[in-house]
Amino acid sequence: MTQHVELADHGEHMISDLQALATMVDDSAPGWSRVALSELDVTGRHWVLRQMIEAGLDARIDEAGNVLGLLKGDRPGAGTIMTGSHTDTVPGGGRFDGNVGVTAALEVVRTLRASGTRLAQDLLVVDFFNEEPNRFGISCVGSRALTGTLSAAHLNAQDAAGTRFGDALLEARIDPSQVGRAVKDFTGVIAFVELHIEQGPHLEEQGNRIGLVTSITGISRFRGIFHGRRDHAGTTPMNRRHDAGCAAAGTVLAVESIASDRQTSRGTTGSVTFTPDAVNVVSERAEVRGEFRSPDAQWLTQAREKLLTAASQHGEQRDVTLELEWLPGEEPVAMSDPLLNTASRVVSDMGLSHTRMYSGAEHDASQMARQVPTAMIFVPSRDGRSHCPEEFTETADILAGAEVLLNTIIRISTQHSSM
Ligand code: GLV
Ligand code: MN
Ligand code: MN
Repeated sequence: MTQHVELADHGEHMISDLQALATMVDDSAPGWSRVALSELDVTGRHWVLRQMIEAGLDARIDEAGNVLGLLKGDRPGAGTIMTGSHTDTVPGGGRFDGNVGVTAALEVVRTLRASGTRLAQDLLVVDFFNEEPNRFGISCVGSRALTGTLSAAHLNAQDAAGTRFGDALLEARIDPSQVGRAVKDFTGVIAFVELHIEQGPHLEEQGNRIGLVTSITGISRFRGIFHGRRDHAGTTPMNRRHDAGCAAAGTVLAVESIASDRQTSRGTTGSVTFTPDAVNVVSERAEVRGEFRSPDAQWLTQAREKLLTAASQHGEQRDVTLELEWLPGEEPVAMSDPLLNTASRVVSDMGLSHTRMYSGAEHDASQMARQVPTAMIFVPSRDGRSHCPEEFTETADILAGAEVLLNTIIRISTQHSSM
């Protein structure tokens, strides 16, 4: 019989950690906001650092703002198992997205120590810096930096005020000239396992307690700027206008229509800005930022082409010019089958109902999977809601997920030790 370890103190410490993180938020915003590059995010990550140290990890914050904590294994040279997630949030988001994976990783460490369970491998816990798309449209910053894919194109991305992302890193006490030093050597890393809330409706609808992720979505994000002409809203005839706002509005609807052709495709325009922002002036400039997602890389390529055609047409009809820029994108990525099978056996032994599923949400695991065998474990989200204050997962489900994470790590360790 394979060893099964229960969470120390029934996971009470983890739940109080989640509650503590939920107090380090922007009270002036709805929900729970700890947006990357804010002072609160710095506070949150330093709090995580202290928890890692208290849990007995050798912990530090790296050059890219990742909080890393190491629990030494018993057998030098046996390799490393990694686990973690992120503690930044979207503006007005929930208190579970990312936070569950970080607090569960801490709970894994505390339980291993309390139960006297020794791993042959090192265990490296990570709170990745800035997983959510920031105001520059860049996501998974810490995991990209760690895996060596944070590029000049990412650092040169600009926000609406024209500030470079690389320069804004100073707001998070990160020295842009040193970020490149965060790249990790993944030799000997045998697995990365991330626990996360599902953020969608499927597990709850199916009555499943656990989701095992098979693959993570591809993403293409864009920034479109329309240049028209500023004119009087009352005196300029409709056929003499160069209304950048109308070209942008057509583009927003094109995103929706392009993405509505398949069950698995998604298209969202999350940000639109008109200049000047005045009710009686025809817009001179309009900026739209959005994204497409799909498990199918070919569909993403076609969606990008269709959007360029549609946005250009909406511009040309009004004699409005368009600059359309695609931010560095993400290919869809598969999780590791052997790790999924290991997690699946843990879940079955625990008697938890489960399913395999695709993730439409982006995760640090997408970056990690390009370097090391990676698995993700999902727990249900009430009403499938996420990135909103209503985001909620039952404590029993969070603790079940943490126990699956713990025992998956133990089994991965044992399997590799007997190789
Ligand atoms: C992250 O939560 C994303 O999928 O955008
Ligand atoms: Mn997340
Ligand atoms: Mn998120």
